[in-house]
Amino acid sequence: MRQHVNPLSEYFQLPRDLPGPQDLFLQADRPIHLDIGSARGGFLLALAEQQPQWNHLGVEIRHPLVRTAEQERKQLGLHNLRFLFCNANISLESWLTNLPQDRLQRASIQFPDPWFKRRHRKRRVLQPSLLLALAGALQQGRELFIQSDVLSVIQPMVRLIELSRCFERPAKQADPWLQTNPLAISTERERYALERELPIYRVLYRRNSQACPILGKLEETWHQIDNPADALTHPTNPTEC
Ligand SMILES: C[S@@+](CC[C@H](N)C(=O)[O-])C[C@H]1O[C@@H](n2cnc3c(N)ncnc32)[C@H](O)[C@@H]1O
Repeated sequence: MRQHVNPLSEYFQLPRDLPGPQDLFLQADRPIHLDIGSARGGFLLALAEQQPQWNHLGVEIRHPLVRTAEQERKQLGLHNLRFLFCNANISLESWLTNLPQDRLQRASIQFPDPWFKRRHRKRRVLQPSLLLALAGALQQGRELFIQSDVLSVIQPMVRLIELSRCFERPAKQADPWLQTNPLAISTERERYALERELPIYRVLYRRNSQACPILGKLEETWHQIDNPADALTHPTNPTEC
């Protein structure tokens, strides 16, 4: 089994200046779907062909996978798709902040690397700062799609997203997990899970009209929820922002 990349290692902490839409896509004004942790890119390579009216961007921390995905994209002649190497937790925030309003219309985090050990929680890709950067770029009604075959991976993502109050789950779903992938294209890991009949936990969130909470407050509350033992042994004062 492959080792996950440690996103906290020094090399992956270096910020990278990601090009804006005008330098990525032939028709830069189209809505963007951002896939975080795009791996070999199979999902976006298929989606970009199926949805030519959208631009698609995959970001991935493993450079060789980005090279392979980009080669395939070029062979297919897709100008509405790019793959970029970066640590999403370091380099996406400023890219998202600089996007024209309502350019990002869908973001996905699919089968993120599982970090089971408590001391590795900071390596999870969905951290409060990334969530708020996504919430800041997505306008009301725009989508955030998450899925995983590991309940203990998706549950903290759900808790964090709902703690932010920036996103709504479809109201009529008593069961929070979507039975099918709304995008109708499976990722590599999703196909692996489907072939082995593993459970898949999916949620399609929509951005609501709530303003983003203050990052420091969200981080602090999240830390207390995510590390209840720490909160008991080291009570903290809420920071006024
Ligand atoms: C388990 S794989 C899933 C890949 C793909 N989304 C799928 O569903 O098949 C998770 C991917 O996220 C990438 N990844 C992990 N942390 C990341 C980070 N901080 N920034 C960008 N990519 C990251 C990993 O290198 C890996 O390719």
